[in-house]
Amino acid sequence: MSADLTRRDFLRGAEALALVAFLNRAHAGVPAEKLAGDEDFWEKIRSAYVRDEKILNLNNGGVAPAPTSVLDAEIEALRYSNLLPTYRMWHDLEPRVEDVRKTLARMWNADPACIAITRNASESLQIAQFGLDLKPGDEVLTTSQDYPRMITTWQQRERREKIVLKQLDFAVPVHDPADLVRLFEQAITPGTRVIHFSQVVFMTGQIFPVKEICALARSHGIISIVDGAHAFAHVPFQFSDFDCDFYGASLHKWLSAPIGTGLLYVRKDRLEKHWALMAAPPSMDKDIRKFEEIGTHPAAMHNATLQALEFHENIGAERKFARLRYLKQRWAERLSELPGAQMLVSLDANQSGAFGTIHFDTIDPGRLSDALLAKHNILVTPIVAPFLSGIRVSPNVYTSAAEIDRFCDAVEAVVPRAA
Ligand SMILES: Cc1ncc(COP(=O)(O)O)c(C=O)c1O
Repeated sequence: MSADLTRRDFLRGAEALALVAFLNRAHAGVPAEKLAGDEDFWEKIRSAYVRDEKILNLNNGGVAPAPTSVLDAEIEALRYSNLLPTYRMWHDLEPRVEDVRKTLARMWNADPACIAITRNASESLQIAQFGLDLKPGDEVLTTSQDYPRMITTWQQRERREKIVLKQLDFAVPVHDPADLVRLFEQAITPGTRVIHFSQVVFMTGQIFPVKEICALARSHGIISIVDGAHAFAHVPFQFSDFDCDFYGASLHKWLSAPIGTGLLYVRKDRLEKHWALMAAPPSMDKDIRKFEEIGTHPAAMHNATLQALEFHENIGAERKFARLRYLKQRWAERLSELPGAQMLVSLDANQSGAFGTIHFDTIDPGRLSDALLAKHNILVTPIVAPFLSGIRVSPNVYTSAAEIDRFCDAVEAVVPRAA
């Protein structure tokens, strides 16, 4: 394996999978926290990705690159399919979606009959949002830091059906996650039908107490919809930990599955009464597959999710989280020392994981991210909202500690020290 690494600095698909499986076996029993700072271990994980050599990617939150094993499987399936699509794609490849469903269900401890495979979190969440019967005046609670497309979805229902959307504000950084439970608790009225919130807030990386908010919703007979776009395969959890009604996620973010893959979890007792976004016949009423009636689509994408799941499982959910947190702590602790700097999320393990957003009094996030890209070849995400602003920094498992230090040097060079 090491001879290969010296010939080129990345591994091809099968080699990459074999290496990660080998590393998993070789480090069995090593605590996740200990491995988090082991650069030799993560250097080998890094070799499973082909990276842009010029630009340091610290926006893995938007959408993540896939390891070579995933990309190879995806491309191979596309080529195979293209030779005779109606037969090879529909007959040979499409049925493997059942393996994807079963593997997701096994790894996140859910009944496969509750897991639909979609194309992204937007689709999953809109299935949840549009499929509920709501009357004029019925209230939906969400926050002003939830994802704009999901808010637009509720707003369309407001305009069309006269439901009422309430977006709750909360200050950042959050000091006590229990405050987020109280935020919803205090806003519940007899008209509240739905609580919709993000497990990880895209603006700041804030982790919400999902279990407690779902329990609160259930105790009031309110439906819970969890936006897991930024949480799935990032924050370790099992569906059996939560009692949510719906959970929607993209698989092309933290799972590093092919771009155009998502997941929808629907609690079993909600399935029959929930309308599909694209129509399905009544015979499918109780079948989770009614949410997959989307017409012709490439089987290659969802099938190569299997390789992404294998990769994730071999790294290990806890190890991955510990490494991602280690990298986040490294830059966040250092840059927080700059005058006028403020992290917009707490660094506690139950409040932030892989990414966070940092505000600087002396420079606006657009100017800072432009300068980082133009002068230092580093990509971050500017976040600007009426109530917060900063740069969002989201490394991945292939990011090295040296790259994090280079990013910190660059920020220190760009950020003015005094207003
Ligand atoms: C919190 C949140 N929800 C939903 C989405 C939508 O995800 P996708 O574009 O993969 O559908 C995103 C995308 O960044 C997000 O951050």
